[in-house]
Amino acid sequence: EKEGYPHFMLKEIYEQPRAVRDTIRGRLSMTTGQVSLPDLKLSEEELLKIQRVVIASCGTSWHASLVAKFMIERLARLPVEVDYASEFRYRKPILGKTDLGILVSQSGETADTLAAQAEMIAHAMPTLAVCNVIGSAIPRRALGSISTNAGPEIGVASTKAFTAQLAALFLFSVYLAQIRNTLSSEECYRLLSALGELPNQIDAVLRSAAPVCERLAKEFYGAEDSLFLGRGIHYPIALEGALKLKEISYIHAEGYPAGEMKHGPNALIDETLPVVCVATKDPNDPESVLKYEKTLSNIQEVTARNGRVIAVACENDQEISRLVEHVIFIPSTVEALLPILEVVPLQLFAYYIAVERGCDVDQPRNLAKSVTVE
Ligand code: M6R
Repeated sequence: EKEGYPHFMLKEIYEQPRAVRDTIRGRLSMTTGQVSLPDLKLSEEELLKIQRVVIASCGTSWHASLVAKFMIERLARLPVEVDYASEFRYRKPILGKTDLGILVSQSGETADTLAAQAEMIAHAMPTLAVCNVIGSAIPRRALGSISTNAGPEIGVASTKAFTAQLAALFLFSVYLAQIRNTLSSEECYRLLSALGELPNQIDAVLRSAAPVCERLAKEFYGAEDSLFLGRGIHYPIALEGALKLKEISYIHAEGYPAGEMKHGPNALIDETLPVVCVATKDPNDPESVLKYEKTLSNIQEVTARNGRVIAVACENDQEISRLVEHVIFIPSTVEALLPILEVVPLQLFAYYIAVERGCDVDQPRNLAKSVTVE
């Protein structure tokens, strides 16, 4: 059932164009420029009453939730809070009826996420499940849901479920923006056509980045520590890249917001430290370009201390090639969708390093696919 792939993880990485395609299928119409999410079970009037979104989740799903905060706040101008589900109940969260709760979970069975959902329901909040397993506990208890249609995920390291979660959360953000009138119809059209092109772009990344990542893995597999940096919506992808690497290769990896380096982590940099930097941009979006430029100066702080930078950047970026040792190129798209393309090379990088180190990629030590205890 690995269909010729040596590991489920690699098979699932390669299934991502299909997973994203199946998650957007039937939910977006390019002729009307509309998003439809029939299982939401919340009317437009009910959604208009929502004043805040509160998301709870764990691990990779928590990283997807952090990306969703940027998507929803930027596109629909609604405040979003994101919690680790395991922390949620223990800080007596201030919740009410005008808050919308979202639970993001691949399995739909994670005990901490279920407990966070129970807390939300106890506060009379409507809850929405973004899950990959239909009929699992979280969507059963939720008012509405947006299923991710990634198909069964076997590898303990989550890959295709993550990109499908981002696609589902992006659709929800555009839907909210349409209801709340925070974007022009031209802007919505631009976002939705970018989403339509995404599966083919993921395909292109798989083809171009896999050999580069395999080569980089041969060079870096001996590392004991590593850093992953990103700014804004790209910061959760740095966290996800670090989680993938530590989870399957047992290399110590930390994700940091690029601008935080000078507040401590710069002290770690020496000529042996791999520093993976997400430095992409949407050239048509001035905010995105500004963020990119700030990230470039953070990268220069690393190279000035002889850190070994591996950058993930957009095609045709000649500036970055001059600055750093290694670049993995991806196509450009709208800022809110760049994370889906960025994470693919980071998954491949972690995968090839784990293989090089002889690790059990699909079944890493001490971990379970579904964490059903708190
Ligand atoms: O099934 P869930 O999405 O609720 O699981 C949450 C985490 O346990 C999960 O994402 C975990 O972090 C993965 N092993 C990461 O690859």
